[in-house]
Amino acid sequence: MKEIYNTMPSSNRPSMIAIDGPAASGKSTIGLRLASALGYLFFDTGLMYRAVTWLALDHDMNLHDEAAITALAEKTQIDVAPASKSDGRACDVLVAGRDITWQTRLPEVDANVSVVSAYRGVRAALSSQQRRIGKRGQIVMVGRDIGTVVLPDADLKIYLDASAEERAKRRYDEIIARGGSADYHNILAKVIERDRIDSTRDVAPLKAAEDAVVLHTDKLTVDEVFEQVIALCK
Ligand code: DC
Repeated sequence: MKEIYNTMPSSNRPSMIAIDGPAASGKSTIGLRLASALGYLFFDTGLMYRAVTWLALDHDMNLHDEAAITALAEKTQIDVAPASKSDGRACDVLVAGRDITWQTRLPEVDANVSVVSAYRGVRAALSSQQRRIGKRGQIVMVGRDIGTVVLPDADLKIYLDASAEERAKRRYDEIIARGGSADYHNILAKVIERDRIDSTRDVAPLKAAEDAVVLHTDKLTVDEVFEQVIALCK
């Protein structure tokens, strides 16, 4: 698939590719694979919201103090760079040069990131940084509002969807495969709660752009989703 694709003239390829969808819908897996097949930058915008959430927790800030969290997002320079280590990361997350990639995946960040990412000022600060990076092109950007708000003029918009049950099962399987222990019903409850917050917030709620291609992935393997996505790039 990759070789066939690489014989295409690069001018025919979409340059700005937006992939949106709910938590655990496979955006990062598919986005990373697509970016590497095309030789593009992979940019997971959720990591920026996670970085602000982790910093706020690390500074013992009150996460319900919207003004203080917004000021933190405005003054912090967050860099999302290609992975510098092969330890399972998709990208590096750097704050003031410090590598906080794995801190952004802590359970306390999972539990609080939806609150932080609902703040208007936080979204304004992070979206403008994301837009500046996205406009350079040759990029696969994943998030919740890339096709609707950050890059409304993206060349290709994809919305990956799957039922909450299927997404919880995928998260559960990932944790078990890594040798961890998990409770499926607990994961499902958290997935449903994050969907609720992400899709009902006032600013940039999770939804498919009108011109997005929506892929329902419940019955598809990762390879099957990837084949459909790469076909859309042709
Ligand atoms: O994709 P993720 O689970 O890493 O996203 C973390 C949180 O950030 C999630 O609650 C939704 C939010 N987010 C967002 O609001 N807009 C984006 N473009 C990306 C993520």
